[in-house]
Amino acid sequence: MIQHLEPDDIFTHADALCRLLWDAVDSGASVGFLPPVDPVTALDYWNSVRIAMHEESRLLLAAFDDVELIAAVQLDLATQANALHRAEVCKLLVRRDVRRRGIGRALMLAAEDAARSIGRTLLVLDTRKGDPSEGLYRSMGYTLAGEIPGYARSADGTLHSTVILYKTLAG
Ligand SMILES: CC(C)(COP(=O)(O)OP(=O)(O)OC[C@H]1O[C@@H](n2cnc3c(N)ncnc32)[C@H](O)[C@@H]1OP(=O)(O)O)[C@@H](O)C(=O)NCCC(=O)NCCS
Repeated sequence: MIQHLEPDDIFTHADALCRLLWDAVDSGASVGFLPPVDPVTALDYWNSVRIAMHEESRLLLAAFDDVELIAAVQLDLATQANALHRAEVCKLLVRRDVRRRGIGRALMLAAEDAARSIGRTLLVLDTRKGDPSEGLYRSMGYTLAGEIPGYARSADGTLHSTVILYKTLAG
């Protein structure tokens, strides 16, 4: 089940959201953090998401199993006057024990529907080159805009290329 969360849902699901972030970072994902992420940093991050949601510059969609939140994705809504048709897809995170079951794709489709419904018809995103996420995005019709070498560092200090992709949604 996929739900659009309200800002204060972050409080309700704070533990699961923090665990989701830890799990992704521990799995070596390139999502802005390096392991170990301490609890305060994780909570501060989700609180910053809550504030952005309150400011109506962020949407958070989450997938749930019978018990708890197991995956999430965000749309960062551009706020510049000339960019109100645009959003960045960020922090697509699926808990390791439920990956490869179509949840990431389902969340992306839900994010695209949500973007379309508010007139955000250009989606942009970036991801580490060669990660499973790149395969997912390309399989969903995202076009490669370019590649930046040495963009993000991993835990062992290696610098990795990032690819930037975009997709224009039919209205
Ligand atoms: C990337 C991620 C979100 C995919 O979630 P998921 O629920 O496992 O993805 P899905 O099951 O919907 O897979 C959809 C497609 O993505 C591709 N894919 C997903 N995982 C893959 C893997 N490990 N290897 C190769 N391709 C993969 C495949 O094309 C797959 O389609 P298929 O299963 O029909 O072959 C998940 O691996 C994840 O959370 N990774 C860590 C966080 C991260 O890197 N997020 C992206 C930040 S930009």
